[in-house]
Amino acid sequence: MKKISLIATGIIILLFVSACGFAPPFKSDEQNFHMNPEPRDGERSEGSMGMGMMHGHDLPLDSSAGENELNVPPMLASDLETEDEVHYTIDAQAGKTEIFDNVETETLGYNGSFLGPVLKLKKGQTAHFTLKNSLDEETTFHWHGLIIDGEADGGPHTVLAPGEEKEITFDVVQDKATLWFHPHPEGETAKQVYDGLAGLMYIDDNGTDNYEYGKNDFPLIIQDKTFTEDKQLDYKAVRDPDGTMGETLLINGTVNPKLTVGKEKVRLRLLNGSNMRNYTFKLSNGEAFEQIATDGGLLNDPIEREKIELTPSERAEIVVDFSEIDDLDDLALIREDHEANEETVVLPFDVDENQAVTENKVEKSTNPVEITDEELEKPVTKEINLSGMGHHVAINGKKFDKDRIDLEQKQGETEVWEVKNERDMMGGMIHPFHIHGTQFKVISVNGEEPPAHLQGYKDTISIEPGDTAKLAVKFEEKGIYMYHCHILEHEDNGMMGQIEVK
Ligand code: C2O
Ligand code: CU
Ligand code: CU
Repeated sequence: MKKISLIATGIIILLFVSACGFAPPFKSDEQNFHMNPEPRDGERSEGSMGMGMMHGHDLPLDSSAGENELNVPPMLASDLETEDEVHYTIDAQAGKTEIFDNVETETLGYNGSFLGPVLKLKKGQTAHFTLKNSLDEETTFHWHGLIIDGEADGGPHTVLAPGEEKEITFDVVQDKATLWFHPHPEGETAKQVYDGLAGLMYIDDNGTDNYEYGKNDFPLIIQDKTFTEDKQLDYKAVRDPDGTMGETLLINGTVNPKLTVGKEKVRLRLLNGSNMRNYTFKLSNGEAFEQIATDGGLLNDPIEREKIELTPSERAEIVVDFSEIDDLDDLALIREDHEANEETVVLPFDVDENQAVTENKVEKSTNPVEITDEELEKPVTKEINLSGMGHHVAINGKKFDKDRIDLEQKQGETEVWEVKNERDMMGGMIHPFHIHGTQFKVISVNGEEPPAHLQGYKDTISIEPGDTAKLAVKFEEKGIYMYHCHILEHEDNGMMGQIEVK
């Protein structure tokens, strides 16, 4: 009897394992993305389980047919603005959106029915936000990537009940960057973001930028969703504890998008706003483009790239030169899909010869990011161990507890965090690790100097199974902040901790 059940268990395990497949969900040929290109123990070689296998986790993504001109989110008009101050009102609401022709989809949005406007802030200003919750459920307003005090940061402690309103005030202290905002209620973040709550926040400084929003400077909020037959979002029906994916791609809420540009340099601000999907972006003609910024702002120097990888919540600003492109060439932003050995068309471009062009300058950082010798020599004082999958995810073996402070740090003091993605029997998954209220610097990845695209300010870092990253982390403000995996279902499942900055 015992033997039979052992055999049966064996068969079940085998079936399970083969059904899952060992294919990595996010495999890149680009050397510098593989933070540790050397297989250490034979497990990391191509096609092995070492790089982050996932359960049935590579739902194909439909290519964009390019039928609809990309929606460009409006810039939110301020209630009042002076050189030193700006006031905004932000209202989380439910509504109906025509994503597909002649169909109304029930969605959530900020100051509108779906997604949100762009909030523009200037370095040096004091910002006043009136936050309103017009939803029939609790929510919070979290400013992802913003240097802000813990109380105003909008983590799970600062919930607004339905109908509630609240004011926050903060000083804008950081340099030019593309940040974003989304809700953060405990256990409900994934659903609310999936249903449409996500918007962009631009920080501006006195840099020499001559790109024009909506003309040659476009945000791309990239998300994947599953629609029901009658074109509704049914999060509960498709929820996956390891991260919900969909086969329908939306950019800025536009299905089957295309983007019409002039024959000039165009800046694209990419945000992976998906719950869990990772993307490897490149141009369909294989040409290189420039990356000018990461999560926290401009890189010291633009870097040439052929591909760019973004895990959930990461941003990258890139410049694509269309001056030599004819409208006859069909150029598109594509996603490399290793599983199916296919490419997904993410955003086809249309080049309009008649559009007036500008000499757009790739701007340079006015405030270079540098890792000091002192930072390099600092010992590790915070250890973060990411582990598990599905409902078993944990940080340092623990699940999130609102009433437990996991770490403490002093305001204004840099500490070195060592973040490790613990590989398990199944290989594990990539965990995009995010810290609230700060922009950190990457000191090393697996003991090596980080690749050029990680040598800028980051608030999220993608960590592959078995990899370890050392970060120089400093909080300018005080309060309680979250750190977590940005696969939103992992966050909701408790892959989150709290640090108190005093
Ligand atoms: Cu996008 Cu807790 O953050
Ligand atoms: Cu955040
Ligand atoms: Cu995770």
